[in-house]
Formats: sequence, C-alpha cells, structure tokens
Amino acid sequence: MSRVVVTGRIPEAALAALRAEHEVDDWQEPGSIPRAELLRRVAGADAVVSLLTEKIDAELLDAAGSQLRVVANVAVGYDNIDVAACAQRSVTATNTPGVLTDATADIALSLILMSTRRLGEGERTIRSGRPWKWGMFFLLGSSLQGKTLGIVGMGGIGQATARRAKAFGMEIVYQSRSELDPAVAAELGARRVELDELLSVSDVVSLHCPYGPATHHLIGAEQLESMKPSAHLVNTARGPVVDEAALASALRAGTIAGAGLDVFEHEPEVHPGLLELENVTLVPHLGSATVETRTAMAVLAADNALAVLSGQEPPSPIR
Ligand code: GLV
Ligand code: GLV
Repeated sequence: MSRVVVTGRIPEAALAALRAEHEVDDWQEPGSIPRAELLRRVAGADAVVSLLTEKIDAELLDAAGSQLRVVANVAVGYDNIDVAACAQRSVTATNTPGVLTDATADIALSLILMSTRRLGEGERTIRSGRPWKWGMFFLLGSSLQGKTLGIVGMGGIGQATARRAKAFGMEIVYQSRSELDPAVAAELGARRVELDELLSVSDVVSLHCPYGPATHHLIGAEQLESMKPSAHLVNTARGPVVDEAALASALRAGTIAGAGLDVFEHEPEVHPGLLELENVTLVPHLGSATVETRTAMAVLAADNALAVLSGQEPPSPIR
C-alpha cells in the first residue's frame, strides 16, 4: 500500500479507485489547500494527485521525499508543474489530455459567440434594469459565416474548436509548431500560417497553445495592434499567454472589437481595466467544467497514479 496525497477535492469515482489500492490523504475543504499544509502533508507520499491551483516545484518535491514516484495533474495544462525538477528526481509527471478537448472547445465557441454577438453586454443591459427594446441598430454584433478564425496552437482543443467553427461557416487558418495531419487539414480546410499573418487576416483569434516561456505574452500590444479593428480575441488556454494590461488598453481604444476570456494572467484576479469594459466577456476558468469532463479528468489522473505505483507505464505521461 502506498500513500497518495490529493491536493484538493476530486470526484468520488477517482477517489474510490485510489482508495481501493492505497492510503489516500485528500484535502476536503472547499478552496485551495494552504501551501504550508500541503508541504506538511506530502511528506512521505508516493504519489501526488495535483490540481492546477497547486505549484509542484522543487521545494514541494523535496518536502515529499525521495520515495515520491508520480505527480498526476488533474489538468491538460501543466505549467503548475516543474517538469524538469520532476525528471531530475525520477518522478513521473502526467496530465489529462483528450478527455477535456470537447468541453474546452465548447467554451471557446461559446466565448466566440458571446463576444461577436455581444451577449454579455445584452445580459448586463437587462439585469441593470435600464430600459431597452428591439431596435434596428440595437446591440448589433458581427456574423461568423464567411469570416476567418485564426487558431493559435492546433493541438486537440484547437482542432476541436476549428471543427465547430467550420460548422458555423468560418474559414480556418492556424499557427502551430507542427503541420497538421493532412487528412485533418483537408477535412477542416485549414491553412497553416505564421502568427503575423494569422493576426492580420483573422476576424476571430482563439488561443489554444500551452503556456511556458515561449508563449509568455505571446499576444501583447504589438500583436493586438496588428489585428483588425473588427476582430475578437478569445483565450481559453492560459492567462499569461496574453498581456492583460495591453489587452485592456486595446479594448478601450478600439484597437480590436472585443474579447472573451476564460483564463487570466493573475488568476483569480482580473485586470481592473477589463472589469470596466463592455466589450469583454469574462468567465471564471470553466473550460473543462462539466460533471462528465471533470470526472473523466480525475479518473484519468487516478489511473496515471495507479499505473506508476504498480510499476506500469501510465496512460498519459508528460513528455
Ligand atoms: C484546465 O485549464 C486544464 O489545463 O486542464
Ligand atoms: C427579429 O426578431 C425578426 O423577427 O426579424
């Protein structure tokens, strides 16, 4: 029997799978585990099942001890994990790709629609009690049919977003480290371009790249300046991919028309400049937030931890 520390509340199906084989110490309070408490609890752990709100760095790995074998993140993004520090200590790190692809693409499409059709603004208008009525020119947005969607990062979630956007009549361009599988590119009619071209031709830009040093502030003042004034930016990836202060200025100045954000640079804080603006839709990191998806993510993370603990190759190691 090994000792498994779970850093926050996860669905029961995953906990039950872990408990069937191991001693499980899970943080059950609402809200994140305080850092000091986490460092204390991981001491002697063989596995850590981590949420994206917890930093898994050298300090935590050392606090756990040399018996630690696996860190299983309940997220596809793993910028909260120091993967190199794990490798140095022969700790396997895993994530949860695949199972949240559709849920996250659904949120990207939702934000594209909310931003281009000004739905947040409309909702706030009704709730504010201000008088309104149908009008020929009231809250006009822009159509998606025939417009171009630029996808930055064409992994599973980028492709799933492209597939949805195609059903709305959009043309797809993408920027990616690698060329798409030709069959997928043909199915989507997607054209690979450099970021500069993507920004200048797209009516909507949707971000689906991982976060790391290479993508820090990938979208800043200069990139926003190169977008069409009628364009919308959607971010369901990670907050710091966008320079949030520059985005607030661009939205205020009309450099771009609107934005939809599911993630924030200093989460859970939101740049105060954004809170004052009507042309930005703000949702609280809900990309994978369905009952089905969160259950699948937690079960996959548990499977990853269980595999490593029993000396097997985990289903989704971070490479
Ligand atoms: C959610 O943001 C994830 O990376 O899974
Ligand atoms: C709008 O409500 C219409 O009927 O065209």
